[in-house]
Amino acid sequence: MKRGAKKEKTGPEARTARRGIPSRSELQWQVTELAEQRAAISEVLRAIADSPHDLQPIFDTILANATRLCRAHLGALLLFEENDFRVVARRAPKNAAPDALPLQQPLGLRPNTPLSRLAKKRTPIHDADLAADQSYLDRDFGVAIVVESLGARTSLLVPMLKEDELIGAITVLRTEVQPFTQRQIDLIADFAAQATIALESTRRERQYRQVNMDLAHATRVATIGQLTASIAHELKQPISAIAIGGETSLRWLARQPPEIEEAKQSVETIIKDANRANDVIGRIHGLITKNPACKELLDINAAILEVTALTRSEAVKNGVAVRTQLADHLPRIEGDRVQLQQVMLNLILNAIQAMSELCEGIRELHIGTENVEPEGVCVAVRDSGPGLSPENLRRLFEPFYTTKSNGMGMGLSICRRIVEGHGGRLWATGHASQGALFQFTIPAPTDVISR
Ligand SMILES: Nc1ncnc2c1ncn2[C@@H]1O[C@H](COP(=O)(O)OP(=O)(O)OP(=O)(O)O)[C@@H](O)[C@H]1O
Ligand SMILES: [Mg+2]
Repeated sequence: MKRGAKKEKTGPEARTARRGIPSRSELQWQVTELAEQRAAISEVLRAIADSPHDLQPIFDTILANATRLCRAHLGALLLFEENDFRVVARRAPKNAAPDALPLQQPLGLRPNTPLSRLAKKRTPIHDADLAADQSYLDRDFGVAIVVESLGARTSLLVPMLKEDELIGAITVLRTEVQPFTQRQIDLIADFAAQATIALESTRRERQYRQVNMDLAHATRVATIGQLTASIAHELKQPISAIAIGGETSLRWLARQPPEIEEAKQSVETIIKDANRANDVIGRIHGLITKNPACKELLDINAAILEVTALTRSEAVKNGVAVRTQLADHLPRIEGDRVQLQQVMLNLILNAIQAMSELCEGIRELHIGTENVEPEGVCVAVRDSGPGLSPENLRRLFEPFYTTKSNGMGMGLSICRRIVEGHGGRLWATGHASQGALFQFTIPAPTDVISR
């Protein structure tokens, strides 16, 4: 026998019912129902926690629980945007007509349909029999297809409201005429509230990530700005070489008879120098352009070498010798090349800036990579600068902490956020003898074998 269906009561149950006291079986049923509701709520909360960026699994879980707990046969979760609804999750038979509750398409708000009534009133719209609804009798095609293709009869639509603003709805439908109880209507309202919370927290999370990305981009551009003089110097070399190569070629060609072979070699040198200059510009362009985060399988050594090429002149200008010790056969890591290069750029510049304060002693920058099991790849940047004081060590990664007159103090906090966003760890140690050591790990995807 179906739960909720009326049954004739006899004996002691009949007497308690007459006195308005719930019978033992009613109490048992209520307890079961409450347990089911609690399980559903924790399932939805788990879905929200497990999927902070993707709403789809959350919507699917909410709808699955809402239809099951309300003994409905069909259901949909709709979002309301630009004055129209679109279905983002649905429960319908696999072979249902594709145009019945079509996914991701604007449904259109036609007057007098249950959806337009919901948009107007913003309260639950309960239709005991959709086939008797005026919109169906007027042959509204959206309502007709739900009744005729899906066999829907009793329909309940509950709004999702954010401070009175309609942001979506949950609908559950039965293929027989059997109105929903008040308790079931309340239950759907609870699910609608959960969907609203999930939607809002995901939107906030997206906004937060966007702000972070904008900030990271702004500081990247500022960092490149600090390097302008060195980069200009880096570019001057190949460009002067190109001019010299051109003059040399002309001289070979002016000879009688022209020295074609020699002229050809000069032109080949010009092409090489032009490519060198082009590479520098390409790297700067990559770091300055504002692209959305994009994860790819990458070779961390190659990404590091590109950054050291960009900072070479800055190191030379400050009398810093750069040594690299990059491990062979590192696993490829999954990450955003530009973001990870930003981390390297900041660590290298910090090290050069720290060493440039030294009046004496060697100025050496070591950049190393190694394969660390099971974390993945570990990158180390060590300098022979003044090192890190306890106060420094404690506050390094705080936003806006800087000891430099022209520093913003955002470099390391952004680096840490980027590394943690890649599932890794960034930390600093005051190097035993002198200098500072910064290390970070980036996990390698488990299904990627060393190249
Ligand atoms: N290699 C290092 N050696 C010594 N101190 C360092 C080193 N790297 C960072 N620090 C200290 O940590 C502080 C914070 O570094 P962070 O990169 O976050 O900001 P910043 O370099 O001061 O400014 P910016 O935002 O321009 O990068 C620095 O001001 C400096 O005091
Ligand atoms: Mg810095």
